[in-house]
Amino acid sequence: MTLAPETTNTEHRLVGTGHVGEGADRYDRLRATGSVFKVAEPDREYWVVLDHDLVRQCLQDATTFSSSVISPLNPEPPFAMIPIQLDPPEHTQWKMLLARYFSPRQMEALRPGLEARCRELIADIKARGECDLLHDFALKFPTAAFLELMGLPLDQLPTFLEWEKQITTPDDKGGFDEERQVGAMFAVVGYFAEEISRRRNAGTHTDDLLSDMLTWEIDGVPAPDDALINCCVLLFLAGLDTVTSTLAFSWHHLATHAADRAHVAATVARGEATDGIVEELLRYYAVPEVGRKVTRDVELDGHLLRAGDLVVFPLVTANRDGSFLADADRVVLDRAQAAPHLTFGAGPHRCVGSHLARIELNIALVEWHRELPDYVVPEGVEVSSYWGNIHGMYDLPLQVVDGADR
Ligand code: HEM
Repeated sequence: MTLAPETTNTEHRLVGTGHVGEGADRYDRLRATGSVFKVAEPDREYWVVLDHDLVRQCLQDATTFSSSVISPLNPEPPFAMIPIQLDPPEHTQWKMLLARYFSPRQMEALRPGLEARCRELIADIKARGECDLLHDFALKFPTAAFLELMGLPLDQLPTFLEWEKQITTPDDKGGFDEERQVGAMFAVVGYFAEEISRRRNAGTHTDDLLSDMLTWEIDGVPAPDDALINCCVLLFLAGLDTVTSTLAFSWHHLATHAADRAHVAATVARGEATDGIVEELLRYYAVPEVGRKVTRDVELDGHLLRAGDLVVFPLVTANRDGSFLADADRVVLDRAQAAPHLTFGAGPHRCVGSHLARIELNIALVEWHRELPDYVVPEGVEVSSYWGNIHGMYDLPLQVVDGADR
């Protein structure tokens, strides 16, 4: 094998803040100069893989690219999150158990509740004529959906929102107050521990995911409660800020691109499906960065990755790679065919919640644009974003444009 002369990038930073778009743009600039990079930051080293086909190949090869480490920010996790940090074959049983609850048909059953919740939030925004998209909508909607799916009371929403903020939203430099973050994680763990124990003691079975989880068996024996709590915490972590951030980037795009906004509003007004629009926004604004640990020496595009090395796959730039899609570097809402993007990952760990995410995004798009077809970021407002394991925004002020003002 011929290896490329190794150069190490010391400029790149996994975590940071900047204007909306910079989190993705800095990877796109890097991809223009190569597919695989070694990065050395003052306190961590890792590889970055940017090419669409390479990212897909690596994520499909769970033997070489282990999920035991999913972020260089946490290189020695004290325990494995279930199922995202388990490798096959241990991973497989958990994934099969979970997948049954997230099929398109099961998710469709949630539609009436999700639509009603969405309409409530939008009615409130319409009455005010302005909102902060993050706090008034993008955080509340997926969190309410999660509570409904799990069979938890909706009055828990403010508590869950506070935990979510403390765990997932970094400070204005992109870092975290670790004490606050760990405290919130413990609170989530404690909540699920208590809820599971309450349900076991009550001996009643309600028709929801959490109650069903209490009947799960792994290798023919009941799944222990600590594993179930762990899995609940992962669902909380995996299913909330991903949807929140996707809503934020999508609405920011639409608020700042009048022709695309008009296209969405017209599609909704005609009663046509919005799936293609959702798929393109998901592709272009992929918010997760996925990580792996290399289990054996392996050559990747002329670079030697050694056993034990950590790798980051920024899905957003893989999705904008022009070698797999025409006009990949811009949003095209009316593509003839949805692009086979990597936003939900690939291989054994591909997102189990993708159908839920899609239905949430479709409902949000339709319900919002039916009531609020025109809106902008108020003049003079600078919106900023952060990046790390997930890309996101702190807030997104929006002003509704009244029909009479247009
Ligand atoms: C737009 C929203 C979402 C995006 C972009 C997204 C993205 C992803 C990605 C990229 C992975 C693979 C991670 C890896 O390979 O290490 C993943 C896994 C996962 N996601 Fe999502 N996700 C979203 C929404 C959801 C929702 C709504 C749920 C459920 C409530 C969910 C639950 C999970 C779980 C449980 C896994 C782990 C699957 C496994 O390990 O086999 N996700 N997600």
